[in-house]
Amino acid sequence: MAFSDQFLEELEEKNPIEDVVGSYVNLTRRGSNLFGLCPFHNEKTPSFSVAPEKGIYYCFGCHKGGGAVNFIMEIEGLDYPDAVRFLAKRAGIEVPEEDRKQTSSYRHKEKLWQLCRDAARYYHAMLKSPEGKDGLQYLLGRGLTPDTIVRFGLGFAPNRWDGLLKAMEEKGYSRQEMKEAGLVRSSMRQKKNPDGSVTEYESCYDWFRNRVMFPIIDVRGNVIGFGGRVMDGSEPKYLNSPESQIFNKRKNLFALNMAKKTKMEMLVLTEGYMDTISMHQYGFDCAVASLGTSLTQEQAGMLAKYTKQMVLCYDGDQAGQNAAKRAISILEKTGVSVRVLRMQGAKDPDEYLKKYGADRFRQLLGASEDQAVYQIGTIRQKYDLATDEGKVGFLQEAAGFISGMSSAVEREVYSGRVAEMAGVTAEAVKLEVNKAYKRRRYAQKKKEERKNLRPADQAAADGIKYENVRSATAEEGLLSQILLEPSLLEETGGLRPEDLSVELFGRALRWMRQRWQEGQSITVSAMNGEFQPEEIAHISRVARKNEGTVNEQAFRDYISVIRSEASKRGSKDLMAALNRRRDKQGYGG
Ligand code: GTP
Ligand code: MN
Repeated sequence: MAFSDQFLEELEEKNPIEDVVGSYVNLTRRGSNLFGLCPFHNEKTPSFSVAPEKGIYYCFGCHKGGGAVNFIMEIEGLDYPDAVRFLAKRAGIEVPEEDRKQTSSYRHKEKLWQLCRDAARYYHAMLKSPEGKDGLQYLLGRGLTPDTIVRFGLGFAPNRWDGLLKAMEEKGYSRQEMKEAGLVRSSMRQKKNPDGSVTEYESCYDWFRNRVMFPIIDVRGNVIGFGGRVMDGSEPKYLNSPESQIFNKRKNLFALNMAKKTKMEMLVLTEGYMDTISMHQYGFDCAVASLGTSLTQEQAGMLAKYTKQMVLCYDGDQAGQNAAKRAISILEKTGVSVRVLRMQGAKDPDEYLKKYGADRFRQLLGASEDQAVYQIGTIRQKYDLATDEGKVGFLQEAAGFISGMSSAVEREVYSGRVAEMAGVTAEAVKLEVNKAYKRRRYAQKKKEERKNLRPADQAAADGIKYENVRSATAEEGLLSQILLEPSLLEETGGLRPEDLSVELFGRALRWMRQRWQEGQSITVSAMNGEFQPEEIAHISRVARKNEGTVNEQAFRDYISVIRSEASKRGSKDLMAALNRRRDKQGYGG
């Protein structure tokens, strides 16, 4: 990823920071600096500043800052080399040929995208071939039209171990590339030789077999992975591509590449591929789906770029309602308004559309409730308002919810509504809300206090010792960034687990690498069983404390701090060993 200094200087010269930022933010000059509303957090008074002479921006509110490249990385959601390319294009300058070669990670990604596109073509062709008869029948049987099947590029993975493998080898892709794209897996096998000795060899096979295939395409139109569904009741129902350099479940949404062009003034978030595809087929081309996980901050941020109005259309069951609640709080933070669609008589949008048709679904969409109304309604359903206990329970829980609203007007309005529902005075509800508000403030303060504990004190509280606070703090940062973005592991090559000063963190790094190589997810919850509960608690606290966005520069800094501390330690140990030896020799001689 090394661009030459000369090129980077030219890039900066031709992309004055005030111009780059100015095309996203309204700036006004005050003295030698410019000010505006920060694009990275919600604010009403400008705390975002640009210093043209220094070529940097800084927000006094959210403390984000950096040069033009950082700004583009942050606002466009690009990684470093892509942000550089973006600015080069903006200024109409060429990325030097040799620099382009050096950015091999981008090149490599391009190759994997191409491979996935060819794989999608292969699966699609298979669906239309005699071998794909069952797959086609399955999809048609679920009510999809041939047109929809083509539009979404749906396909079929044949019931063979090497269907895709052979086809892609013929096209010139290597097995290594197929493994990296998550299309092929390998296992070690043993072969007995005639002389009785054993040879180990690697055997590769298709990851997706006998499944209908849903290509997953990113906003820029690259095929990055697949979801594959079984056609009978076997498990797992859906199999997804493993996480890879190009496929990150947390940062992509199914069908956003299409939905971003919708003329409707909203985006609808569903839980499933089939729900989204059905909605498109019935004319609701604003539907997207998360990729089998609950909605992430990154995904919410992407959605907020394309719309001001999100509608949640989750399954009607308890799990769906819980997921909706989580999604609401994540989406609200991005400043979009959130409505929730309540469905009755069908378990998901796909089923609803087939049962009742597009018109009734449109009515449902129109009648979707503002999230606050929805949440109060959900609380109400839990209590029997005909009884006194029911009323009290409802009032307390609703007051707790209302106390979390940031605007006084909203608190007032919803207190009134709740009072009406329960048949009590608005005054009584207000009292409850105030009580809940105080409890909330107190809990928040406690949490803040905990958060502000110095790392070593926090660690000690968790029963873990930090002997080198400088290194340990960097190690905390390193691990939390990896938890946020596992592909960063690819950049930790030079780091040995024993370089980490905290033994637990070294073990965690080793474990993460192992999981990454096996294509497994890297989450705190996956640590269960491998680590002690106190250890997991500590790591999750560390991760929460450092939660935020991926920052590759910071990540590189962490690595260099850890390495330099490790080498200091190394030389100290060496000195100590030498001294011990000298002492011993002294005694002996
Ligand atoms: P259909 O049964 O095909 O209608 O799918 P659905 O979308 O109604 O299924 P469901 O509500 O069970 O799942 C919603 C989404 O969760 C799917 O689109 C998948 O992304 C994901 N999902 C469901 N089952 C599995 C599974 O077994 N493994 C994984 N990894 N993801 C799953
Ligand atoms: Mn379904």
